[in-house]
Amino acid sequence: MTVIGIIGGSGLDNPDILENAKDVELKNIWGKPSSPVKSGTIAGTEVHIIGRHGRDHTIPPTYVNNRANIQALKDLGCNYILATTAVGSLREKIDRGHLVIMDQFIDFTRKRELTFHETFEPHSPMHTPMAEPFDADLRAKMVESCNELEITVHDKGTVVTIEGPRFSTRAESHMFRAWGADIINMSTAPEAILANEAGIPYAVVAMSTDYDCWKTDEAPVTWDDILEIFQANAENVTSMLIKTIEKIS
Ligand code: ADE
Repeated sequence: MTVIGIIGGSGLDNPDILENAKDVELKNIWGKPSSPVKSGTIAGTEVHIIGRHGRDHTIPPTYVNNRANIQALKDLGCNYILATTAVGSLREKIDRGHLVIMDQFIDFTRKRELTFHETFEPHSPMHTPMAEPFDADLRAKMVESCNELEITVHDKGTVVTIEGPRFSTRAESHMFRAWGADIINMSTAPEAILANEAGIPYAVVAMSTDYDCWKTDEAPVTWDDILEIFQANAENVTSMLIKTIEKIS
């Protein structure tokens, strides 16, 4: 049976897309997920949604309990996880409001829990392959959904995830571009690592909200800029998620 988990990022965690929705408060060995889990159906498929930063956006990126979030979705039987995130663009061609179905990450976080394996069983080390951290089939369905809905989409891209909550300095922003990163956020790498450890196919749709601060012909990013862009474009993310879920089902 297909069961889908959604982890919604800032402004992109609208639980109203579910039919027959109910809230469930969960707890597991890693603690409580970021929000109550909103469970219901989309196109007849069971879907469970967690708001990454809590319902009232009270959890800063460093303190998101990614282990509890992924574990909760695993315990609910999710065999796919779709995530949403706002990102800054490090490339001219990725304009505000564009979607990016990322295919690689660079982990520049420093204070996150990055494994479920705090000890190894004797002689059974766990080293998860991470060459392709995002599920190719889910990504293809996301891109197809965007194309069908005529939403501007970039079908690949490397995200660099920084610790936050501060934004980058201009020197950092230039460095990330030189490293080959196309977009920047504060959430994806740790979540992707844990989804892979948990063995659950995982893909992310990113909405570009700003040009970070490398682009000197623009004012550096502020939180208000980000809010304005994603409020204007959140509908695109919602409709592409629904279409993607129809395809998975
Ligand atoms: N999320 C959205 N825009 C961002 C930026 N410029 N840096 C880090 N995270 C972001």
